[in-house]
Amino acid sequence: MRKNIVAGNWKMNKNLQEGIVLANELKELLNGATPNCEVVIGTPFIHLAAVAELVKGSAIKVAAQNCGDKESGAYTGEVSAAMVKSTGAEFVILGHSERREYYGETSATLNAKLALAFANGLTPIYCCGEPLAIREANAQNDFVKRQLDETIFALSADDFKKLAIAYEPIWAIGTGVTASTEQAQEMLAYIRSLIADKFGKEIAENTSILYGGSCNAKNAPELFAQPDIDGGLIGGASLKSADFKAIIDAF
Ligand code: 13P
Repeated sequence: MRKNIVAGNWKMNKNLQEGIVLANELKELLNGATPNCEVVIGTPFIHLAAVAELVKGSAIKVAAQNCGDKESGAYTGEVSAAMVKSTGAEFVILGHSERREYYGETSATLNAKLALAFANGLTPIYCCGEPLAIREANAQNDFVKRQLDETIFALSADDFKKLAIAYEPIWAIGTGVTASTEQAQEMLAYIRSLIADKFGKEIAENTSILYGGSCNAKNAPELFAQPDIDGGLIGGASLKSADFKAIIDAF
């Protein structure tokens, strides 16, 4: 079912104690209420187990920001999808532009990670989006279509139905620049039309597609009011509990 989702991506911020404080603040701000959207926090790996335990029974769910592309074994420094699942996390962010750019993630790596996420019962939040040069050349649609064709459009319909997509224009990440509401809506509508072409209208209508890229408490109400924007993947503004709560309240 298509759900509204507000997901935080803490990236490499907050030590364990600070992360627990932040998660606890958010839990207290929600105060047992059921928000009008699914609330997810994407913490660093080492926070997952403690934060998942802390938010148990609340409306908050937990995501990893990545997982390994191998099942298990001699892969020093990696964290498997099974390990993520064992912490109590339910989601995994995959294909973030920072992973693609700084850690060389390719479509092939992402396909392996997607398969392991599904095999371990994690819900992927699959990220796509174009860099500035591509947007300036007005080639963003082809760029994003290719990212999808090479990865999640190769999934079975049954697996595809389980994931959420986040469109993050790289030029709007951490820059304070947001895509205009029209640019965001236009791209998310385009992605939904591609899903309809590939998997049919019903699946397209039921897929949650989020916008990410300097989404904040101020611009969230207008963004979330768009017909194809089902929520946000939030970086900087997810690091302050009051700001993140205000974004949740935009639904
Ligand atoms: P900002 O909200 O800080 O722009 O980050 C967006 C993002 O990359 C979320 O994954």
